Amino acid sequence: MNDTREDMANRVFLISGGTSGVGKAIATGLARLGAKVVIISRSADRGQAAVKEISEATGNSRVDWFAADLSLQSSIQEVANIYKRKYDQLHVLINASGAVYFKKELTAEGIDRMFAVNVLSHYLLTNRLLDILQESGPARVITVSGHPRFLKNPVINFDDIQMEYQYSAMRAISQSLFARTLFAFELANRLEGTGVTSNAFHPGRVKSNLGRNAPWYLRVATPLVNAFFKAECGIGVYLASAQEIEYANGMFFDEKKRIIAIHTQFEDGAGNRLWTLCEKLTSD
Ligand SMILES: NC(=O)c1ccc[n+]([C@@H]2O[C@H](COP(=O)([O-])OP(=O)(O)OC[C@H]3O[C@@H](n4cnc5c(N)ncnc54)[C@H](OP(=O)(O)O)[C@@H]3O)[C@@H](O)[C@H]2O)c1
Repeated sequence: MNDTREDMANRVFLISGGTSGVGKAIATGLARLGAKVVIISRSADRGQAAVKEISEATGNSRVDWFAADLSLQSSIQEVANIYKRKYDQLHVLINASGAVYFKKELTAEGIDRMFAVNVLSHYLLTNRLLDILQESGPARVITVSGHPRFLKNPVINFDDIQMEYQYSAMRAISQSLFARTLFAFELANRLEGTGVTSNAFHPGRVKSNLGRNAPWYLRVATPLVNAFFKAECGIGVYLASAQEIEYANGMFFDEKKRIIAIHTQFEDGAGNRLWTLCEKLTSD
């Protein structure tokens, strides 16, 4: 492990989505620095395979995984409790999981599946872990967003955020992108002065399995697209570990570490509205 950093040895990072794409790229980068890395996956096979792969690639055996289906609030609650029973510190929570569903699907708890995974899971997992983050402070939450180009003129239909009346996959994808970015900003407002920060980031183009639920004609294109994408996510590793941004809060970083003023594009009060809606949907 030639890249190890002394200050990383005692830091614990929890990554949702650590088996693939952005989350796995960040988990690998942090493991390479010598950190304790814990990932979350729905699948024992994928979780264990990712732990093995990350450990072998980095020479860091301090990689762990927990099982959770992040589309289900009961499972999020359980994984947060299990985490707190096993570990007494959490320095950085990385909300990197995500999914795309081309047809409307409901979870067993009656929530739109894409909204549940891409937005509510970040809200609930973060809130369930805020106590341990604050106790471990200074601590950070970083949340994956998307390319700033796709965040121009963000529109969230708060009256039908789960698109119960008229579902469009493309609108659902962009609305969930807007909502999780807004979540990161609203979290930052609420965390001001607590020793925990919240920032959002565009991960760059990272090799991905996001097309796994797509129609076959889109799935066949995945290897071609991935050939042009990277297996690393430098900005994610930087935001999770760099000392110079320890106090950055409520910022949006692009893949080149530039701060972009995305938050000004959201309507005043939208963050609070989203928070209240998430509270209601999770009975938090
Ligand atoms: N890749 C890029 O270039 C890129 C660029 C911009 C934005 N993004 C955003 O980044 C997010 C992640 O994309 P990705 O490329 O990393 O996707 P990916 O390769 O498909 O990985 C998704 C990760 O999320 C986890 N996940 C999905 N549903 C889950 C559930 N119900 N419970 C638990 N874990 C779940 C998966 O874990 P398991 O399947 O093991 O459970 C997997 O580790 C997306 O929201 C995407 O919009 C990605």
